[in-house]
Amino acid sequence: MGLCSAQLTVTCLFFIVVPHVLSQVAEFVSIDCGGSSNYTDPRTGLGWVSDSEIIKHGKPVTLASTNGNSMQYSKRRDFPTDDKKYCYRLSTKERRRYIVRTTFFYGSLSSEEANPKFQLYLDATKWATVMIQEGSRVYVEELIVRATSGYVDVCVCCALTGSPFMSTLELRPLNLSMYATDYEDNFFLKVAARVNFGAPSMDALRYPDDPYDRIWESDVNKRQNFLVGVAPGTIRVNTSKTINTLTREYPPMKVMQTAVVGTQGLISYRLNLEDFPANARAYAYFAEIQDLGANETRKFKLVQPYFPDYSNAVVNIAENANGSYTLYEPSYMNVTFDFVLSFSFGKTKDSTRGPLLNAIEISKYLQISRKTDRNDVSVLDAIRSLSPDSDWANEGGDPCIPVLWSWVNCSSTSPPRVTKLALSSKNLRGEILPGINYMEALTELWLDGNGLTGVLPDMSKLVNLKIMHLENNQLSGSLPPYLAHLPNLQELYSNNPELQNEVQQKHFRLILGISIAAVAILLLLLGGSLVLLCARRKTKSAGDTTGTKKKGLSAYAAVRGGHLLDEGVAYFISLHVLEEATENFSKRVGKGSFGSVYYGRMKDGKEIAVKITADPSSYLNRQFVTEARSLIRKGDVYGIIDPCILGNVKIESIWRVAEVANQCVEQRGHARPRMQEVIVAIQDAVRIERGGNENGLKSSSSSGSKAQSSRKTLLTSFLEIESPDISRNSLAPAAR
Ligand SMILES: *[C@@H]1O[C@H](CO)[C@@H](O)[C@H](O)[C@H]1NC(C)=O
Ligand SMILES: *[C@@H]1O[C@H](CO)[C@@H](O)[C@H](O)[C@H]1NC(C)=O
Ligand SMILES: *[C@@H]1O[C@H](CO)[C@@H](O)[C@H](O)[C@H]1NC(C)=O
Ligand SMILES: *[C@@H]1O[C@H](CO)[C@@H](O)[C@H](O)[C@H]1NC(C)=O
Ligand SMILES: *[C@@H]1O[C@H](CO)[C@@H](O)[C@H](O)[C@H]1NC(C)=O
Ligand SMILES: *[C@@H]1O[C@H](CO)[C@@H](O)[C@H](O)[C@H]1NC(C)=O
Ligand SMILES: *[C@@H]1O[C@H](CO)[C@@H](O)[C@H](O)[C@H]1NC(C)=O
Repeated sequence: MGLCSAQLTVTCLFFIVVPHVLSQVAEFVSIDCGGSSNYTDPRTGLGWVSDSEIIKHGKPVTLASTNGNSMQYSKRRDFPTDDKKYCYRLSTKERRRYIVRTTFFYGSLSSEEANPKFQLYLDATKWATVMIQEGSRVYVEELIVRATSGYVDVCVCCALTGSPFMSTLELRPLNLSMYATDYEDNFFLKVAARVNFGAPSMDALRYPDDPYDRIWESDVNKRQNFLVGVAPGTIRVNTSKTINTLTREYPPMKVMQTAVVGTQGLISYRLNLEDFPANARAYAYFAEIQDLGANETRKFKLVQPYFPDYSNAVVNIAENANGSYTLYEPSYMNVTFDFVLSFSFGKTKDSTRGPLLNAIEISKYLQISRKTDRNDVSVLDAIRSLSPDSDWANEGGDPCIPVLWSWVNCSSTSPPRVTKLALSSKNLRGEILPGINYMEALTELWLDGNGLTGVLPDMSKLVNLKIMHLENNQLSGSLPPYLAHLPNLQELYSNNPELQNEVQQKHFRLILGISIAAVAILLLLLGGSLVLLCARRKTKSAGDTTGTKKKGLSAYAAVRGGHLLDEGVAYFISLHVLEEATENFSKRVGKGSFGSVYYGRMKDGKEIAVKITADPSSYLNRQFVTEARSLIRKGDVYGIIDPCILGNVKIESIWRVAEVANQCVEQRGHARPRMQEVIVAIQDAVRIERGGNENGLKSSSSSGSKAQSSRKTLLTSFLEIESPDISRNSLAPAAR
């Protein structure tokens, strides 16, 4: 009743008198796709609205001619041919039944043009494959749905040829009990045929003759495989008398005032049913509209298709309806029809008149595919509302079906669940929504590089979470302890100036430094060794070692692990996972300058090298890693070399390593190098360093001895993996 405003009193007065007519029309939604203005169609008196303010996608196309169709066919809206879906959202009342109708009129189709062929969806349910074979024909797709929520999404997508388009989109509410079926929890009704027999012209009958604006096709309208095989002696009859149609489906009186009669005892028709064979709901509409004499009878049976229960039942319209000029509406709740439907009614032997038929309606049961989990969708909607004008927040329809939104991934379960949120650098502001805790299927959460503030909400239910990126936000408070107990969490990035990494100290007793398939191994190798070296020299010259005193072995930490964490490049793996992967640190493959290196294999097959150091103290400044990344990308490798050793190393060797290091921070796993490639790069670099004594950078004599030791340590001491192990390929997975 949303439109009852100024005319409230008037409308509502009428409302009492003609209840369903007025109430229905007020709630009609008629969208002229591609139309440039709102208007009232003089043929029907219905108001049409332009979709220009409803949808942001696609472009209006003006057609040369409407071919005598109504004015909403002077334009259409074409959508891009890509891997996205384009959706209109219509408001509905949950559990109310509606007709949802889309029409497609392409206009002239030149011989070079590909015939458009694309998919039509209602919510997550595949509704139809729209295939335009004749440019001059209006293709109609109609569903009868009981709304499953406060809206329905009508989407086109997945063009096979041509581009998806739409001419009109209509929503027509039905009276409360109309078209109820036993199966409506799981099935929509897809209208396959709705025929008005004995129609006076070719024109379809709809609003205002049908207050619900159903389209009753005329039986005069001949096209291929539609109402052929008409029995001889079939005549058309009509009446102008009032017909009582107040039965379940309320067919319009005009439809019931015309009929066909099989004067030779048989009515028969054949028509093709799109998307059949299928189970269907079938209605026959009968009203006796001829005045029969006292000794006359009209009795007939369904001959074909043969259904035991129905075919034996004798139809006597006036008797069944309890009077002439009254609707009798037998229906078949669930029948199976073939693609080609032949049906016929034959008169019984004792009947004086042949069979009569006013109208039929056949709808296919269309299995409803479930929409994405409501909790997930409500969180996504809340996230979208944080950035209402951005493109990514306006990809309409269901997040997962028929195609994924660009920033999510989903499970293929029913209902689908969201498994990944990729919201890196989406300019999000505000706090992380508490509702995220109910997105239990999440395995990846990327929220890095936004302006998120506040404390982390409870996310303890996200037990499937493997990867979580929170770095480069303004989050505050502390990392909550439950993170340590998320059983699948492998990767947690949390560089936020205000966020304290208590978890790391209290619960993640070991922080892994190196993981080949993860991130930043070489930044660690390179950066770590360069700077550590420098710092160690300083330490030595100070004549004191401070490194091991703080945490000892109980607090395992990789080189700089804790601080990499701060910088958003750390990689968390809980201690027991590492113990498992390395078989309790049993395979020592080398000894670096700060501790031993162990070989391990994660559950997912990822090979890792784990370095354990007892010295987690801070050597690097915070920005090192991020700077390193951007400098390498800019081609400036000098910028990341520690000033202490600048001049003692060869730029070529640094480059060799920096290149691989850069690949190591690729987002996609397959773009990152294999351990083998990393090792080769290091070996190359070592070779460059060793072999190039004479041709190398000239170092001042005063730093000569330092240079010597630096060169050795630079690329080898950090990862002094014993060469036999490498040559035996113990770390190297099979070639790709
Ligand atoms: C549906 O039909 C019934 C019976 O005629 C009528 O009383 C009721 O008002 C109608 N409902 C709507 C919503 O039109
Ligand atoms: C058409 O009508 C709708 C609502 O009735 C309104 O929001 C929209 O601005 C109108 N569009 C044009 C182009 O006038
Ligand atoms: C009704 O039938 C008569 C003759 O049978 C025909 O002339 C007339 O056009 C028909 N009217 C309609 C509305 O079909
Ligand atoms: C219709 O009947 C068939 C066979 O009897 C059954 O499998 C199906 O579930 C029924 N309902 C629908 C909506 O198809
Ligand atoms: C019906 O009855 C009338 C007279 O009572 C008779 O003339 C007519 O032939 C009968 N028609 C049929 C079909 O029996
Ligand atoms: C049938 O109609 C008659 C009068 O037209 C009426 O008396 C009778 O009650 C009706 N029967 C049923 C079952 O509605
Ligand atoms: C979504 O997840 C599935 C299964 O985990 C994966 O195969 C697919 O590549 C992912 N798709 C995207 C677009 O990330």
